[in-house]
Amino acid sequence: MALRQGEFRANQAKVSFVSMRWHQYLPSQPADSTRVRLSRVTFYAGDTTSSGFTCWDATFASTDLSTVRGISQFELGPWHASSAEKQARDLIDQAHESLMRKQGLLALRLAEEATRMFPEIAGVHALRAQCLTGIGRLADAMAAVNEELRTHPVSAEALQMRNLIARELGRQRVESSRARQWQSIVNQELKAPIEAATHRYKYRGHAMVKNPFDMALYPLLLWNLKPATVFEIGSYNGASALWMADILGTYGVDAHIRSLDVVKVTAIQHPRVTFLEGSGRALADVFPADMLGSCPRPFLVIDDADHSYETSKAVLEYFHPHMRAGEYIVVEDGLTASGPRRALAEFLPAHSGQWAVDSHYCDFFGYNATWCVNGFLRRLE
Ligand SMILES: C[S@@+](CC[C@H](N)C(=O)[O-])C[C@H]1O[C@@H](n2cnc3c(N)ncnc32)[C@H](O)[C@@H]1O
Repeated sequence: MALRQGEFRANQAKVSFVSMRWHQYLPSQPADSTRVRLSRVTFYAGDTTSSGFTCWDATFASTDLSTVRGISQFELGPWHASSAEKQARDLIDQAHESLMRKQGLLALRLAEEATRMFPEIAGVHALRAQCLTGIGRLADAMAAVNEELRTHPVSAEALQMRNLIARELGRQRVESSRARQWQSIVNQELKAPIEAATHRYKYRGHAMVKNPFDMALYPLLLWNLKPATVFEIGSYNGASALWMADILGTYGVDAHIRSLDVVKVTAIQHPRVTFLEGSGRALADVFPADMLGSCPRPFLVIDDADHSYETSKAVLEYFHPHMRAGEYIVVEDGLTASGPRRALAEFLPAHSGQWAVDSHYCDFFGYNATWCVNGFLRRLE
């Protein structure tokens, strides 16, 4: 059976489709012209193993025969839905009814059951996303809508939903950054021995000054962001750049790390790392705008230099205009030094709405349980 992209007119309603599955909001066997008129939607790409469209003849023979002929030119055949698919569609219909009756949890359970039964059915993940959004589980809703887009990439409804959820998630994060305090649950008793130990720690035999919290958080961030270019300000012995290069290599991310220090690292060579000499206070000398313009995206910037107010401020202000939505700047060591905290406390309100403290990382192990106190910044727009 040929799968063709196309469109047709049915009772003045222009209908376009790229597959043979009904959109989730359409009844599975529309039988009258009213329903056809409702179908001003895209029929989304279904899986190509599906055997056909639902009851075309029955549907359109009763309305407008010319549309049936128009459709048949796409060689659509008779529909043979499996019983699992039929049951899943019933569950989806019931879920929609539950949503209309404001029974969100019931709708979610029905949608989840439909997903277990027939996960590739068009719209089922978007429906889950809608239910999850309704009960405030935005991260799960985002995962569901991404699943819908993975299986049905042209779903306009899912794209719209993803934008709405992303906006809501962004708003929540902005709000949380406005309200954030500078305290950390890492108290002096815990901080002192860890800080001492970080100076004895070695990665592949090279001294690396990272605490266990951030050693767990960076791999999360690297996985989620999958940066193509990492700018590290403060290389020390080069071990942190080596470590990130190894992680990104393991993840299969095609990234390059540009690590800068006032004393250039020479003892480490890695194909994904370039060590540079220069100062975080004079970044235009090392990373001029045209060079930044040619570096692959997304960017991750890490300020891990002298932890002075001046350097942190310079790093934030220099990279700010070069960063795009969704990219990150991490400002390290606000836990132990006041300089990064002061720079952040000035920078965030000065760029309100453009940056948010990402509490997902800052608070992953507890409130500011990181050396980067309020220091995981995500560019919003
Ligand atoms: C905390 S260490 C970096 C640790 C390293 N990123 C790691 O995780 O192992 C700070 C480094 O910043 C460098 N540094 C100091 N002032 C700097 C500046 N203005 N610009 C760039 N690097 C600077 C120091 O030479 C030192 O190597």
